[in-house]
Amino acid sequence: MKINNVAVNKIAEKYGTPTYVYDLNKIETNVNHFRKAFQHDTIKTEIFFAMKANCHPAILDIVAKNGLGMDCVSPGELQLALNTGLPKDKILYTANYESEAELKFALESGVIINLDDISSFHRLIRTGVPEFISFRINPGKGRGKYEQITTGGVKAKFGVPFEKAIEAYQTAKEAGVKRFGAHMMTGSGTLDNEHFPMMLDLLLSHLGKVSEKLGIEFEFIDMGGGFGIPYGKDEAPMNLQLIAKNCYKILEERSREFHLGNPSLSMEPGRIFVGDAGWLMTRVNGIKESYKKFIGVDAGFHTLIRPALYAAKHTFIVDGKEELPLKDIVSICGQICENTDILAHDIPFPAVAEKDLIIIENAGAYGNVMSMPYNMRMRPAEVGIYNGEVKLITRRETIDDYFRRIQ
Ligand SMILES: Cc1ncc(COP(=O)(O)O)c(C=O)c1O
Repeated sequence: MKINNVAVNKIAEKYGTPTYVYDLNKIETNVNHFRKAFQHDTIKTEIFFAMKANCHPAILDIVAKNGLGMDCVSPGELQLALNTGLPKDKILYTANYESEAELKFALESGVIINLDDISSFHRLIRTGVPEFISFRINPGKGRGKYEQITTGGVKAKFGVPFEKAIEAYQTAKEAGVKRFGAHMMTGSGTLDNEHFPMMLDLLLSHLGKVSEKLGIEFEFIDMGGGFGIPYGKDEAPMNLQLIAKNCYKILEERSREFHLGNPSLSMEPGRIFVGDAGWLMTRVNGIKESYKKFIGVDAGFHTLIRPALYAAKHTFIVDGKEELPLKDIVSICGQICENTDILAHDIPFPAVAEKDLIIIENAGAYGNVMSMPYNMRMRPAEVGIYNGEVKLITRRETIDDYFRRIQ
């Protein structure tokens, strides 16, 4: 198997396993494909990369170079975004349950702030009253691929409940805020093309009530991220052109109808830019014929937690055995001392042997960023391939890295 024209076995021999490999050219293509779909003659459009999906500086550089801003959720992410040299109006700060100190950092950095709650506004203005503020509104509904990544609706911890939206903007207006925006993020990983225009419509109808009551207009509407990617052959990619066309139409119509002004349309996808541009290489350590057949590999939930966290499914390729019949039913597991350390349950698989190289596809989003050194199994290496150049972009973590922090 090759990634960006480079044989994976050569990368594995040189850098070991488990290792993440990124096709940085593919990220560039994904960004440009998305930007091409979301452009409009009169509605200003700003696309921010939700760097939580993958915040490696090499990836941030590529994304920024290709015209995206950054969406950050913590002071650490904000620092990474500032390090890219992007202008402040291309950086969003969208945290939740923000501390006073981090709000101070965000305000003093001069970036756009999406507040998670009215209580956050009270903490923010202990530092100062910004001229512009945006609130993250929970529009009362949400949709994610899994329940755990559904971030809107009554079970979600995020955002200002829409019933309190008037109170939120009134509080900000009375404190002296002059310009306003609104944000939502209602779920991750959906492949439903209808979802985004529908949620935008719902958000705008809530903002209509705010504008009617308070007489304010909105400069910025951010419909969040959440654009899914196919993780299996049974799933189809989203129709971005269709989604964009429907969203612009709704934004134009509702802005007129509800006197919202001429807001820009923003969004902050993560997964769709990097998900299918990352692979995790892992080697078979042992094969056990137990009550079922387990293929034990050197990656686990400490390297890629999505299967354990959400029962998320990935596809697996055995390098050099792509054409073999899938005659076995196997579960692929890691070495972590937890029974949830299963990367795939009961999947059809070719006959494999110890030391075979397995490639886990679609691992570029929410992969290494969620890795951890549990059981003292240290974090993996990362390799980037760009224009034919293969480069180690993160060296493998070692036990010495751990001891460096111990006092
Ligand atoms: C506030 C916010 N914005 C954007 C995203 C990006 O979502 P996705 O990677 O599904 O596009 C997330 C993900 O959870 C989020 O919480």
